[in-house]
Amino acid sequence: MSVLFPKWFNAFPTIAALGGAGALASVVGGFWYYATPKFFAVGYEPTQPGGGFSHQLHAGKLGMDCRYCHTHVETSPEANIPPVSTCMGCHADGRLKLQTDRPTHKERTQFIRDAYEVNASVEWRRVHKVPDYVRNFPHNIHIEAGVSCYSCHGQITQMPVVHQVEPLSMAWCLDCHRNTAPHLVERDRVTDLKWVEEHLKARVALGEQGLAQGRRFHDDRNLNPPETCAHCHY
Ligand code: HEC
Ligand code: HEC
Ligand code: HEC
Ligand code: HEC
Ligand code: HEC
Repeated sequence: MSVLFPKWFNAFPTIAALGGAGALASVVGGFWYYATPKFFAVGYEPTQPGGGFSHQLHAGKLGMDCRYCHTHVETSPEANIPPVSTCMGCHADGRLKLQTDRPTHKERTQFIRDAYEVNASVEWRRVHKVPDYVRNFPHNIHIEAGVSCYSCHGQITQMPVVHQVEPLSMAWCLDCHRNTAPHLVERDRVTDLKWVEEHLKARVALGEQGLAQGRRFHDDRNLNPPETCAHCHY
C-alpha cells in the first residue's frame, strides 16, 4: 500500500488540523483523484464464494429485511456481515424441504453447510471500502438521520451479486452533506429500498415542492452533517 502514498502524505494530519484548508484540499484532491488507482470503484464486483449470495433472491423475492442479516447497522458504525449460523437457520439439512430436495439447490448451498461443519466463516470478498485515512464513517448515525441504504448502495434488492454503484469519494460525501433534501426519508422506511427508490424519484419529479419535504425532515431532525476535515479524518 505504502508506495501509493506520496511523501507529502505524511503531512496529512497537519493539513487536516488546519481545518479551513479547502483550496489546498481541492488541489491535492484533484491530483490524488487522477493519480490513485481505484481498487474499489463504481461497478466493482468481486467473485464471491459459492458463486455469490443473491440479494435479489433473499432481500428481493423472499422480502427479507436488511437487518435480519446486517443486525448491527442501526446500532454501530460498522454494518456487519452475517455469520454462517444466520444462513443455517434456513440452509441446514432438511430445513427448506422443497428446495433442498432439488439437486442444483443442494449443490449451490453446500458451501454453507461445509463451512458450518468445520466452524469456519465464509470468506466473502469485501465490495465497499473507504481508505483507512477516512477514520469515521458511522452507519448508525446515517440510518438514524433517515438516509436509506438505497442512497449509498443502490437498489440492492435487484442485485444477484452486490456491486458498487456510488463513487464513495470525498466529493460524493460532501455533496450530500451540503444538500440532504433529495435523500432524507421517513426513518422507519430506510430499509424498504423499493419504496424509497420510487419515493425519491417522485420527489425529484415534483421539483421544489418535493424537496420541501426533504428540507422539513432536515430541520425537524435537527441534522448537522459535518464539512470540517476532522469529523471524517481525525
Ligand atoms: C439473508 C441475509 C442477508 C440479507 C437479508 C441482506 N444481506 Fe446484505 N449481505 C449478506 C451477505 C452474506 C453479504 C456478503 C456477501 C456479498 O457481498 O454479497 C452481504 C453484503 C452486502 C453488501 C456489500 C458489503 C461489502 O462487501 O461492501 C451490502 C451493501 C449489503 N449487503 C446491503 C444489504 C441491504 C441494503 C439489504 C436489505 C435490502 C441486505 N443487504 C440484506 C447477507 C444479507
Ligand atoms: C429465511 C430463510 C433464509 C435464510 C436466512 C437464508 N436463505 Fe438462502 N435461500 C432461501 C430460500 C427459500 C432459497 C431458495 C429460493 C428458491 O430456490 O426459490 C435460498 C437459496 C439460496 C441459494 C441458492 C441460490 C440458487 O440460485 O439456487 C444460496 C447460494 C443461498 N440461499 C445462500 C444463502 C446464504 C449465504 C445465507 C446466509 C447469509 C442464506 N442463504 C440465508 C432462504 C434463506
Ligand atoms: C451514507 C451512506 C451509506 C448508507 C446510508 C449505508 N451505507 Fe453501507 N456502506 C457505506 C460506506 C461508505 C461503506 C464502506 C465503509 C468502510 O469502508 O468503513 C459501507 C459498507 C457497508 C457494508 C460492508 C461492511 C463490511 O464490513 O464489509 C455493508 C454490509 C453495508 N454497508 C450495509 C448497509 C446497509 C444494510 C445499509 C442500510 C440499512 C447501509 N449500508 C447504509 C455507505 C452507506
Ligand atoms: C446521502 C447522504 C449522505 C452521504 C452520501 C454521506 N452522508 Fe454523512 N451524513 C449525512 C447526514 C444527513 C448526516 C447528519 C447526521 C446528524 O446530524 O445526525 C451525516 C453525518 C455524518 C457524520 C457525523 C456523525 C456524527 O457523529 O455526528 C460523519 C462523520 C459522516 N456523515 C461521514 C460521511 C462520510 C465519510 C461519507 C462518505 C463516505 C458520508 N458521510 C456520506 C448524510 C450523508
Ligand atoms: C464528509 C467526510 C469528509 C470530510 C468532511 C472531509 N473529507 Fe477528505 N476524504 C473523505 C473521503 C471519503 C475520502 C476518500 C476519497 C476516495 O477514496 O476517493 C477523502 C479523501 C481525502 C484526501 C485524499 C485525496 C482525495 O480527494 O481523494 C485528502 C487530502 C482529504 N480528504 C483532505 C480533506 C481535507 C483537508 C478536509 C477539510 C477541508 C476534508 N478532507 C474533509 C471524506 C471527507
